[in-house]
Amino acid sequence: MAKSKSIFVCQSCGSKSSKWIGKCPACNEWNTYLEEIEQKEDLRAAKALFTIEKSIPKKLSDISLIDEKRLVTKNKEFDRVLGGGLVPGSLVLVGGEPGIGKSTLLLQVALNLDGTNVLYITGEESLQQIKMRANRLNPESGNCKILSETLLENIFIHLGNEKPDLIIIDSIQSLYTERIDSSAGNISQIRECTNQIMQFAKTKAIPVVLIGHITKEGAIAGPKVLEHVVDTVLQFEGDQQHMYRILRTVKNRYGSTSELGIYEMRNTGLREVNNPSELLLSNYDEQMSGVAISAAIEGMRPFLIEIQALVSTAAYGMPQRSSTGFDLRRLNMLLAVLEKRAGFRLSSKDVFLNIAGGIKVNDPSIDLAVICAILSSNQDVSIEKNICFSGEVGLSGEIRPVNRIEQRIKEAEKLGFSHIVISEYNKKGLNFSNYKIKIIFVKKVGDILKKFF
Ligand code: TYD
Ligand code: MG
Repeated sequence: MAKSKSIFVCQSCGSKSSKWIGKCPACNEWNTYLEEIEQKEDLRAAKALFTIEKSIPKKLSDISLIDEKRLVTKNKEFDRVLGGGLVPGSLVLVGGEPGIGKSTLLLQVALNLDGTNVLYITGEESLQQIKMRANRLNPESGNCKILSETLLENIFIHLGNEKPDLIIIDSIQSLYTERIDSSAGNISQIRECTNQIMQFAKTKAIPVVLIGHITKEGAIAGPKVLEHVVDTVLQFEGDQQHMYRILRTVKNRYGSTSELGIYEMRNTGLREVNNPSELLLSNYDEQMSGVAISAAIEGMRPFLIEIQALVSTAAYGMPQRSSTGFDLRRLNMLLAVLEKRAGFRLSSKDVFLNIAGGIKVNDPSIDLAVICAILSSNQDVSIEKNICFSGEVGLSGEIRPVNRIEQRIKEAEKLGFSHIVISEYNKKGLNFSNYKIKIIFVKKVGDILKKFF
């Protein structure tokens, strides 16, 4: 007979306590402790059953590599973000805010895989809702089967009968197991369900994709625990106003974490965007001041993004600094550099910065385009449309070299730019005969001023 025990669990980080506490000592959140019943012995028995086989120490040379044949989903962006498809037995968590398109993305993946038995388990929508959506996405849906079920024990029975090659669960927060006496979505439920699914995936070598919701703070609800358990965490993000969505890798045991997939939301579902630069550059005809194009790299892919700046006289005593898609502290730093090294009086000016398309970029190589956009707006002098920039700006105003410069130059050339401005320190090792595009070298912020303003 299993012994049940009442404990209090932090719904944010999963810490446990025998008493209720107001503030979690582990994650410092307030009012996150909820009482839950845990049936300890059952859990232990279940875990031991799965793990005993693996628990014998082995020499590395004695471990045979299983032929890791990835399941390629035909959704190129999704495959690339995963590092080349789904690894058998891997557990992938796709997180994102409600309404961003998680269900759409994975249903699309499921419907496009013919020849593979996919089981799409939904705990959120009815079969009719899924059918309606599937008809919009791909009227001839292949081998995909839909199951509407939230009790984990029942799901395992169906999995035993159906023997799918790929399992998609929408969402992990809607599942519950009888082993734990708390409602679906509570952290112990999420953790226990994930653990059981994980064991299933690993023993049967079937890839499983879990969909997870995100809380207001941007964390996957019940999540810090989840992120440790699963093999891969993908984040689906993007403004709801903007038509496109970004799939980012947060953690990946089977690939790089710097990959990025871009989709456009259409009324027939998500379209893969293979050439992101097209989306990120606005198609204006006139030359405008305050705009500069940067050749950036996110993940393995180079693309060109448009930086827009507006500098105006501060209406109030304190000048405003505001930025969308670019780190505000970095903007302040660049403004200080301009102030000191280029003699600009920006301290009495409001500065607004925007990365077109609502994308967030972490690549420091966009610094150069940022200062050019600011200078351009400040002086109301436009920069020629066919010039792009790639360089990091250091504290003493030097333009620092950036990595993978050849890729950036190639991309700029491919998109029809006639000039690219990069750091003098990137010159070494560049083979100029490879490019038709003109390369302009700069060393200091002052060089930019001389050449363009
Ligand atoms: P959904 O996949 O339900 O989001 P999530 O599962 O992340 O909560 O996506 C819902 C949104 O996507 C909804 O606002 C409508 C939009 N959408 C389209 O624009 N086109 C489509 O073809 C589909 C299926 C959805
Ligand atoms: Mg959904």
